[in-house]
Amino acid sequence: MEVVIGAPEELASLAAGTIEALLDRKPEAVLGLATGSSPLGIYDELARRHREGRLSFSRARAFMLDEYVGLPLAHPQRYRNVIEHEIASRVGFGVGAVLGPDGLAQDVVAACAQYEEAIVRAGGVDLQILGIGTDGHVGFNEPGSSLASRTRIKTLTEQTRVDNARFFEGDLSQVPDHCLTQGLATIMGARHIVLIATGRAKAEAIHHLVEGPVSALWPATILQHHPHVTVLVDGPAASRLQLADHFRSTYAAKPTWQGL
Ligand code: F6R
Repeated sequence: MEVVIGAPEELASLAAGTIEALLDRKPEAVLGLATGSSPLGIYDELARRHREGRLSFSRARAFMLDEYVGLPLAHPQRYRNVIEHEIASRVGFGVGAVLGPDGLAQDVVAACAQYEEAIVRAGGVDLQILGIGTDGHVGFNEPGSSLASRTRIKTLTEQTRVDNARFFEGDLSQVPDHCLTQGLATIMGARHIVLIATGRAKAEAIHHLVEGPVSALWPATILQHHPHVTVLVDGPAASRLQLADHFRSTYAAKPTWQGL
């Protein structure tokens, strides 16, 4: 697990540069997309590079991490709409190239199984962008999630619903109780995972992710078992890392050609 501590703009640029390099060598790459605040700087930077003609998503495909259950098709917080607005429409993905779990499916079990099959048929995810919840969730794999889980329906914790109420004009009653989410084993199938977190509210979750024992109580800790994870954090999110100085000096000494 590589930990890079830097300013938010620097982190967004590093992630976008890694995606640009991936698309250079593999234009048909498969990306994994997260919603929420954390990846927005990355999406802005990708949109900027796309406008400058530096990278093309015309042959790329993408899979979303998760989706709320029951939000109407046109709801602005339906994750399919959020992803369309924040990234897909800004970088020119082809029609039908971005898929997400169907939060309106009648048969949820079948919809989740089909989503898993679609990821396999696409050849798996090359690079997965992740945020992390203050309770240590990735995707919406809340504390207590099976470390071997696949895409399925989950109940959101009160803490996550309170955290996300800001997207629903602060009205907790509008935040759905359930979601469909890629499981932890699904996420672990990605070939490279880039997790980004900023702000003091993420410091405890980042400490557990990087330095804690692997436990379903802090689901992100499963990433310690993945061979290629990059954790991008700003100073406040890194403030509880015992090894922060080591991570800073290791990254400062890293040859620039090496990439993430
Ligand atoms: C979003 C997702 C969540 C968020 C996490 C952090 O698709 O799967 O795990 O990444 O809740 O959210 P933000 O970035 O808004 O703090």
